[in-house]
Amino acid sequence: MQLRRSDTGSSWIEVEDYRLPGGWVGRERVAARARAYCELLEKGQIVFFRTLPFHFPTEDQEFLLAQEWTELRLHKNVSYRPSEDVLRGVSGGARTMERIHTIMRNYSAQVIDFLAKFLAPYSTKWVLDFSSFRPIEEERRDLPIHKRNDLLHVDAFPSRPTRGGRILRVFTNLNLKRPRVWNTTQNFESLANRFAKDAGLQQLAENNSVISRTVKSWGEKLGFHGMGRTPYDMFMLRFHDYLKENSKFQESCPKFRLEFPPLSTWLVFTDSVAHAVISGQYAIEQTLLIQPEALTAPNAAPYRILENLAGRPLVA
Ligand SMILES: [Fe+2]
Repeated sequence: MQLRRSDTGSSWIEVEDYRLPGGWVGRERVAARARAYCELLEKGQIVFFRTLPFHFPTEDQEFLLAQEWTELRLHKNVSYRPSEDVLRGVSGGARTMERIHTIMRNYSAQVIDFLAKFLAPYSTKWVLDFSSFRPIEEERRDLPIHKRNDLLHVDAFPSRPTRGGRILRVFTNLNLKRPRVWNTTQNFESLANRFAKDAGLQQLAENNSVISRTVKSWGEKLGFHGMGRTPYDMFMLRFHDYLKENSKFQESCPKFRLEFPPLSTWLVFTDSVAHAVISGQYAIEQTLLIQPEALTAPNAAPYRILENLAGRPLVA
């Protein structure tokens, strides 16, 4: 592995020992190398592939790029849920829909197959989340503030609490001509040190025992156990909104510009790496939730950093 400057100065880690068609280059220390990449990711690095590390037929890429997405009644993104084999967010003619569904199903399966080898310590211990295709140009996109992609934020999903688990995302820029441009900023620990208190961490932590009892009893009444939001999940949702609403932070924080070239792929834990999409069109992405027990660097997990700051447990 090699620490490389991206074209505009910020760093990502470029992978040179895993590539198609065979996967790992060389057979020595494969398990140790996979574990090292997990650790780098968990500690906030972006892991970058200049060319596709999984199979994605050119004709499928071309089909996605050739659609008139504005005519296909598109919501924010096209989304695909691998665990239920359900396509959402787009409607159109039956044949087109069937083809998009097949492409997303195969894409998702190929990414998961790649991750099972490249990040082997996580495989079998992850929860498959959604994949998405993002055909709308991000620059000057008109969205409500909490949905805006161009403001720096960490990810948290209102409908899918992770209970301390981490949000791993694999992005590919399918645009053949233009890069996908991101800004990142300081690491999660710095952001938490600076803003967690103002965003209400202490208050949520102190209500923890009351909240966990309540969540548990709601869960039991509804017939499921251990699936509710923990104080950590509540804080992360709040922190996502807090950062987007904080115009002083958005204007004055240090920004590191990253330009992901056409057909490059990058992996990142977006619950800790604050990111903003400045421009780009046609990204495809798969999300996985990595359970706390599968983490290789648990002390770098946002829930641990926040628990240390709060001096109390946040994950029931
Ligand atoms: Fe995000």
